[in-house]
Amino acid sequence: MGTSMGHTDMYNYIEVDAENLEYVTVAEVGELGDGERLIVDIDDEPIAVFNIAGLYYAIADVCSHDDGPVAEGEVDEYEIACPRHGAKFDIRNGRVLTLPAIVDIPAYPVRIEGNEIQIGLPIES
Ligand code: FES
Repeated sequence: MGTSMGHTDMYNYIEVDAENLEYVTVAEVGELGDGERLIVDIDDEPIAVFNIAGLYYAIADVCSHDDGPVAEGEVDEYEIACPRHGAKFDIRNGRVLTLPAIVDIPAYPVRIEGNEIQIGLPIES
């Protein structure tokens, strides 16, 4: 726990007020089974949604190291390794875990409404 020092965080959903989120439907629950991922484009931003043991997580599909398609990488529990140069991130919150990346990637809250998987995006002001 605690706050990280020494690098600049990108926005993280934990720090975004609930009223500043807009939820967008990305799929139906049946389309994303346990262990699967789905990459969608929302407003030209590639975002990946994961189902890990029945819980859903969403991160940006753009590596903070050199813009690699990080969400296409190998998943180990809650860690994903960027296929370009191997930087690892925590899928649950976008935190960077290993070099060569030093900056977190965006993570988004996910909710289930009826049968729909929805991602909360910060409303641009
Ligand atoms: S682009 Fe992801 S580790 Fe380099």
